[in-house]
Amino acid sequence: MATKDELWKPEKSPTPPPGTLPGGAHIVDEASPALRTVPGEPMLEVKGLCTYFFGEEGVGKAVDDVTFTVRKREVLGIVGESGCGKSVTSLSIMRLIPNPPGRITAGEILFEGKNLLALSEEEMRKVRGNKISMIFQEPMTSLNPVFTIGDQITEGIRLHMKLGKSQARERAVEMMELVGIPAPRDRLDDYPHQFSGGMRQRIMIAMALACDPTLIIADEPTTALDVTIQAQILELMKSLQARLGTSIILITHDLAVVAEMAHRVNVMYAGRVVEEADVRTIYKTPKHPYTIGLLCAIPRVDKPEGKLCVISGTVPSPFHFPKGCRFGNRCPMKFDKCEAEEPPLFPIKGEPGHAARCWLYEPDKQDPATEKEVRRKMLEAGERV
Ligand SMILES: Nc1ncnc2c1ncn2[C@@H]1O[C@H](COP(=O)(O)OP(=O)(O)O)[C@@H](O)[C@H]1O
Ligand code: SF4
Ligand SMILES: [Mg+2]
Repeated sequence: MATKDELWKPEKSPTPPPGTLPGGAHIVDEASPALRTVPGEPMLEVKGLCTYFFGEEGVGKAVDDVTFTVRKREVLGIVGESGCGKSVTSLSIMRLIPNPPGRITAGEILFEGKNLLALSEEEMRKVRGNKISMIFQEPMTSLNPVFTIGDQITEGIRLHMKLGKSQARERAVEMMELVGIPAPRDRLDDYPHQFSGGMRQRIMIAMALACDPTLIIADEPTTALDVTIQAQILELMKSLQARLGTSIILITHDLAVVAEMAHRVNVMYAGRVVEEADVRTIYKTPKHPYTIGLLCAIPRVDKPEGKLCVISGTVPSPFHFPKGCRFGNRCPMKFDKCEAEEPPLFPIKGEPGHAARCWLYEPDKQDPATEKEVRRKMLEAGERV
């Protein structure tokens, strides 16, 4: 694998190819560079994670029995609308859930074989920013406006890599160069407001990479940026991931972003994983009505004639989930059983690694016509965009 020194040099912003989606992503058949890196053994295993909030309204099951694995060199996409539990999942991994009102009530988070939930706060501090780092949606709120960029990048480097001041500044320059900040040495003593939104997000990526983490959690890293800058940041993350081999959990409400970068996808709804599969399978043969509804909302380069729609209604509050299937009140496929009992994740026949939490896919009911039927009904019931 290449070292960081030989790596990425800033490129001119590429002209988006025809058919590029908002955000610069496009759904294509050829594997992207990220997809060509072969994932290795499991490095993060989240098992039965429950993170609940306790308030006057009762118990809010924001993350409810969530299980997934991230392998070495893998990009796992976590997708779902706002309020589905994506950020609470990532904050739980970092053990940054505010308590009160929140608490991890069950589960295990095994990182390189160690249960993070059993670590002391001091041990956990060594993991954060060092082995696992985060990139948030809004770089302005994550960067401190009263400290220079240089101070902020070197802080983590000095703490975790035990480097002196001048060595840490060298490392910071190297990282800024890596993420494409022009004349990095001259910019070290600038403050966050002296950088554009896209440049601030590059700085956040530099900070996240500075201590050679094995896992990066990127929570809506491009959502606050305008379309062209989004495409550049995604391109940067993709090329760095392909070359450094860092594992990434990429959290987004935008399936088009995941199409560009992820190897595998977990679709989350109302605190649950409702569908999981490799990225190609999610796009080619989605099964859960929720996933099909999300896909209806993105223009497809490969299906330009496809109609677009959005799923009617909103994600229920974790304090008031409906009985039975949590997607039931928005699902045009709903039948009696859906209201009576919540479905488990059913493995999809003939598609290893693919599972959907929907009664339509009970083992004896799986039939190829169902997906078409779901798509037709979701389109009929959805609001046109
Ligand atoms: N501190 C909190 N107190 C109560 N509820 C919370 C808190 N933080 C998050 N939640 C709730 O948990 C649910 C999941 O939130 P979140 O993980 O942030 O969603 P998203 O998928 O948009 O990232 C939401 O309904 C949110 O309101
Ligand atoms: S279980 Fe029923 S309500 Fe839930 S997604 Fe499947 S068909 Fe729709
Ligand atoms: Mg979020």
